[in-house]
Amino acid sequence: MTVDEFERLRQYLHDAAGLVFDASRRDSLAYAVGERLPQTQCETVGAYLDLVASPAGAAERQSLLDEVTIPETYFFRNPPQIRALRNHVLPALVKQATASGSKRIVVWSAGCSTGDEPYTIAMLLREVLPVMDGWDVRIIATDLSQRALAAAKRGRYGRRSLQLAEAERVNRFFEESDGDYVVKEEVRRLVEFRHHNLVTDPAPFLPGEVDLVLCRNVTIYFDRETTRELMGRFHRVLVDTGYLFLGHAETLWRVTDAFRLVSIGDSFVYQRDDSALPTKPSVITSSAHASAISDAAADRKQTRDKLHGVLGALGKLSRRHGEEPATVEVVVPTARTSTDRLAALPRLVAPPLADSAQPTVPGAAPVLGAMGQGQYREAIRLADAALVAEPLNGQVHYLRGMALTNLGRDRDALVSLRKAVYLDSQAGFAHFLLASTLERIGESRAAARSYLAAAQALGSRPADAQAEELGGRNIFELVQLCRRLAGELADKGAS
Ligand SMILES: C[S@@+](CC[C@H](N)C(=O)[O-])C[C@H]1O[C@@H](n2cnc3c(N)ncnc32)[C@H](O)[C@@H]1O
Repeated sequence: MTVDEFERLRQYLHDAAGLVFDASRRDSLAYAVGERLPQTQCETVGAYLDLVASPAGAAERQSLLDEVTIPETYFFRNPPQIRALRNHVLPALVKQATASGSKRIVVWSAGCSTGDEPYTIAMLLREVLPVMDGWDVRIIATDLSQRALAAAKRGRYGRRSLQLAEAERVNRFFEESDGDYVVKEEVRRLVEFRHHNLVTDPAPFLPGEVDLVLCRNVTIYFDRETTRELMGRFHRVLVDTGYLFLGHAETLWRVTDAFRLVSIGDSFVYQRDDSALPTKPSVITSSAHASAISDAAADRKQTRDKLHGVLGALGKLSRRHGEEPATVEVVVPTARTSTDRLAALPRLVAPPLADSAQPTVPGAAPVLGAMGQGQYREAIRLADAALVAEPLNGQVHYLRGMALTNLGRDRDALVSLRKAVYLDSQAGFAHFLLASTLERIGESRAAARSYLAAAQALGSRPADAQAEELGGRNIFELVQLCRRLAGELADKGAS
């Protein structure tokens, strides 16, 4: 496959299904086309791509999508989530539906592959609600792949698909047949399979109709914009406090604020959260805008004593108009990059210093004070003075680096940030700031390593710890984000 052909195919798959293939997956795409070519009259890849693009190519388009999608799935996948569903979420839905008198539960397994996931939900519901008389329980399972859906409807599985299923559940919900395991009718009855494209088709539900959406291990193949639009559709179809389960490598950080992450048992799940939407400050995407707000905030410093010592974790500092500054919105400057990845950097809310989880070392306090007032040059001057007395003060190096990034001096900031992580390898936020700075200047591989280091350092904290520096989001989310970014950048570096 030539470079041009790969580009053509890549564009087609993105438009048709939201799938993103970077250069490292060129061989696997070439293999998929190689599998399809003999099934058509086409003799060259070019002719094949013409067919796929033509009105006569509908059947082949579907076959190609069947070929390139990844159906990896199994029953009871992600045990912490299964426990959260079995012990908390599904009983809560049953309770709500009982209390409202609707006796109706609607679940959407979006990207259900060969059916293991929706059948798992059906089994859990059978356990939670043994008697379903008078109940309207519907699990709608959708997928783009006709091949996967055909397997799902057969409901016949090998032992490998049941690797996480407890023996008791296997006995209760499957019948053995010629070495395979066939899902019992009482489970199948609850699940309806439909062909549906999550990217191009409208959601197959009315607004507020769905109690629980599972879309696990699907958006890992999408870009952020596609994921954001999809989350908007999930948000619309979910009931007010409806649940959303994503895969363990998927996060809504930097995607949407329309869901809040909640800790249930030993798992994290998303819940529709409209309360956050209207009151949240709007995203500031231009560093010039952020600077203007930052300067205005500095002018009002007389009235904001509480701001003294605010840790601006990652960038420009601004504040909500008309409020006392109990929280501060921090925006990473984006003007120096044109990449999509950095176009929607996170808004972080930093706490008053006294609330910060990290104790402030003495030399850092004046630097923090200057940072809190948006006086980055002054912060650097104070940091330099502090470092004369304490050259090994990692927190001051970190703050110096932060001030430099706020002034757009990323390359200078690297020196300080590298010292900060050298002096304290567990300084997770310093690793994170170093990673995002490296990313901005195009050092993908080094950025990937730093995101990983950030994930490791932050991952050693309790997963559900609320990080004040992160505006109440928890560490788990940042760890997930770091892992994802590390993976994306490693791919980019390899390509
Ligand atoms: C790795 S499987 C995940 C299966 C299951 N959710 C789980 O976590 O075990 C991903 C599934 O997403 C489906 N998929 C990918 N793009 C899709 C799209 N645009 N619309 C609907 N399904 C899609 C694939 O066909 C595949 O079956």
